[in-house]
Amino acid sequence: MTVFHARLAARRAVTTALAAGATALAAFVAPGIGAAQAQSHVPASAMVSAGASTTAAATPLSDTAALGKLIFNDPSLSASGRMSCASCHSAAHAYGPPNGLAAQLGGADMRTQGTRAVPTLGYVLNRTPVWTHVQAASVFERLTDADSPPAGGFAWDGRFNSLHEQALFPLFSANEMANRSPADIAAKLARAPYAARFKQVFGETIFASNDAALRQAMMAVERYELEEPSFHPYTSKFDAYLDGKAELTASEMRGKKLFDDPNSGNCASCHIDQVGANGAHPLFTDFQFEALGVPRNPELRANRDPDYYDEGLCGPVRTDKASNKSYCGLFKTPTLRNVATREVFFHNGRFHTLRDALRFYVERDTAPQKWYSKDARGHVVKFDDLPAAVRDNVDTVDEPLTRKAGGKPAWNARDIDDVIAFLKTLDDGYQPRAQGAKVVKVSAALKRP
Ligand code: HEC
Ligand code: HEC
Repeated sequence: MTVFHARLAARRAVTTALAAGATALAAFVAPGIGAAQAQSHVPASAMVSAGASTTAAATPLSDTAALGKLIFNDPSLSASGRMSCASCHSAAHAYGPPNGLAAQLGGADMRTQGTRAVPTLGYVLNRTPVWTHVQAASVFERLTDADSPPAGGFAWDGRFNSLHEQALFPLFSANEMANRSPADIAAKLARAPYAARFKQVFGETIFASNDAALRQAMMAVERYELEEPSFHPYTSKFDAYLDGKAELTASEMRGKKLFDDPNSGNCASCHIDQVGANGAHPLFTDFQFEALGVPRNPELRANRDPDYYDEGLCGPVRTDKASNKSYCGLFKTPTLRNVATREVFFHNGRFHTLRDALRFYVERDTAPQKWYSKDARGHVVKFDDLPAAVRDNVDTVDEPLTRKAGGKPAWNARDIDDVIAFLKTLDDGYQPRAQGAKVVKVSAALKRP
């Protein structure tokens, strides 16, 4: 019952549209994101190469965004008084988690574990399309190439269509910032050192309504997330390479070929690495949903309950698509920019090194016993983090996920080394060694709080 049969063909069509870059994407951009953001799709590095003397980092934030930055970094907005957005989305870690925990600890006591790994906020904030699933009009279309996987929306399951809507979730989530009511947060905002500024920006009477104060605070966070250039600095070696200002080493280049090759890693079919038609640098995601069958993670306390399964698109965190069983097990493809700086991988944080994440891709099917648990009779339970009834949703048609047990993995250890070398070129903050006239000025935006 694999549902998105024609994934390959469909994916290629969508990929092309996405690779067309800002122009194509502008049409998908969430409501409320205006022309200013459409422009920010052009990488800072492109501006540098165009000879502009200032990078995007020099543009000051609007008043609303500056307020949003204070809110984003304010731990007093949590029940514990110790957790802000930045605790989990750390600027020094490409707005990903500052540690290797599978899921962070939060709540009023700072000991309540979440259920998912913290994704990076880098690059995706102003480029994530709204959630869509263009469904096949007929069985024939589904079997040919008109059916494409769902795409877009914020969070691993795409359940939020805007950043202001998303920002409410961690504020109230019992295992994150754990506030109880809008009144709770409004009172904290009214006591914050920036309360006077909040009134200046949103009006003297803003604190008269808890709901209005909360709504404006979320709009401010959204403005910050969209305006702050360090969320998408485009200062990696790969960006310099695309601009013709750096050369990849033999190992990096070999890694790129393995990453791109449809008969080998085939990674670029989902983690897009082509430049868009207008020169926009790639984000290494197509924002589509896939079930990869990542193994169950015993580090998650929720998994102590053998009947608990995080099935992504079909729930239980997302609630509006529970009836569509073809959605079970699907999670959104994350960007791979700055991925080598992470210490935790995949939605359930199952892996803690990039090497293991890559080995999983190429050995999932050739050596499943390495990755999955065994049942009472000693049989390997492939795709053990999904209920048996929906395991058929897991992708077994896209390379390198098509092999047979005992077969040859798509990559050997050296191949994996090379792909890691390539993925490291996606880390921001690349400082080319002085090369005379070829010196490139890269903004150190990421290092700024
Ligand atoms: C306790 C850690 C934690 C805190 C605190 C936290 N987040 Fe997150 N954030 C996460 C996790 C985990 C996810 C993935 C959630 C999911 O898939 O359900 C996430 C997802 C997101 C996303 C979606 C990213 C994407 O690519 O779709 C955004 C945006 C975001 N957080 C912004 C914020 C903001 C703004 C705040 C503060 C109001 C915040 N976060 C506080 C852990 C945290
Ligand atoms: C069919 C689409 C698809 C293909 C092909 C694909 N990926 Fe992914 N990738 C995903 C999805 C979806 C996830 C998230 C899955 C999850 O967490 O359950 C992901 C997650 C990852 C992660 C974890 C990133 C993070 O922030 O946690 C890495 C690393 C990664 N992929 C690398 C690769 C490499 C290397 C290849 C090629 C061997 C590859 N991917 C091929 C869709 C794909």
